[in-house]
Amino acid sequence: MYSQGLIGADGTTEETEEFLAAFQARIDREEKIEPNDPMPEGYRKTLIRQIGQHAHSEIVGMLPEGNWITRAPSLRRKAALLAKVQDEGGHGLYLYSAAETLGVSREQMTEELLSGKAKYSSIFNYPTPTWADMGTIGWLVDGAAIMNQIPLCRCSYGPYARAMIRVCKEESFHQRQGYELLISLCNGTKEQKDMAQDSINRWWWPSLMMFGPHDADSSHSEQSMKWKIKRFSNDELRQKFIDATVPQAEYLGLTVPDPDLKWNPEKNNGKGGYDHGEINWVEFWQVVKGHGQMNRDRIKARKKAWNDGEWVRDAALAHAEKRAARQTAQAAE
Ligand code: 3HC
Repeated sequence: MYSQGLIGADGTTEETEEFLAAFQARIDREEKIEPNDPMPEGYRKTLIRQIGQHAHSEIVGMLPEGNWITRAPSLRRKAALLAKVQDEGGHGLYLYSAAETLGVSREQMTEELLSGKAKYSSIFNYPTPTWADMGTIGWLVDGAAIMNQIPLCRCSYGPYARAMIRVCKEESFHQRQGYELLISLCNGTKEQKDMAQDSINRWWWPSLMMFGPHDADSSHSEQSMKWKIKRFSNDELRQKFIDATVPQAEYLGLTVPDPDLKWNPEKNNGKGGYDHGEINWVEFWQVVKGHGQMNRDRIKARKKAWNDGEWVRDAALAHAEKRAARQTAQAAE
């Protein structure tokens, strides 16, 4: 029987060696941890941090593409982009709901985002000046997200893993529609192909940064992998993404903007893989710290949306309280 942690007077679990060992044994047996299970405070906090930031990324990620909905070149492209942006909003909803099962409120998470205390993915702090960016975001950004999110379907925390299964199904549509958009451009006029090349030039390296710092510089990876929140390290997923994506760029006839990119048959235990150049980590940390090209615009847009939506939240809550009061009165009759 899984030993209950000693519940302290304030309701938190006293983390005895025995309790921690029993919890880790559950993780090692690939058991899913559910919201009402006793869990180490560090496990809960890590999940709130990661799921909350993941949710913020989905919602902020709607902004770069939302910028092009009214300017899509055809009804078909507009419909695909609308569907994708709407999906991202839904992904944010699943993820905020998964985080709320850990005892944090939507308001708290949003306040931490708007105050700069909580992060969102660096990738969304780059501008989208051309239509080709809509294709590159779908192909590279959602492609990187899929590489990172597929393993999360096997995360040890049940609500997060289950949210990811639905998210990943929709991400594959996002990636395909982006790649198909780029096939059209690359088979189009010289100007259209040049626009696609300019776009990959701007998005290639920021997409590699999505996977996080090198493993040696990752403050959370070791523990997250022990708790099977993370199944692969940042560098492992980044390498998988590069190895899968370079042939796709070649099919498009586009050049990956990395002069050090070279097939190495020895890599990946002899399966082969690409050696690549070094990421600009100064740029990465600048963007993560809020000094990217679009950080201010993104937070300003989120603050406006949160303030403009206050009356909707108040009305929904007032309605819910009134209905609860009516149901209580009816039950008392
Ligand atoms: N952007 C912003 N911050 C980043 C980052 C990035 N690309 N990569 C790492 N960081 C931050 C981490 O959050 C952490 O800071 P914190 O302690 O304040 O949270 C710090 O840098 C150290 O990084 P670690 O690698 O130690 O942190 P993690 O173990 O959390 O790994 C991660 C980072 C790989 C992003 C991991 O959090 C993760 O897998 N998150 C879930 C997936 C996710 O959030 N993806 C973001 C994109 S969502 C998306 O693309 C939507 C799609 O529909 C387009």
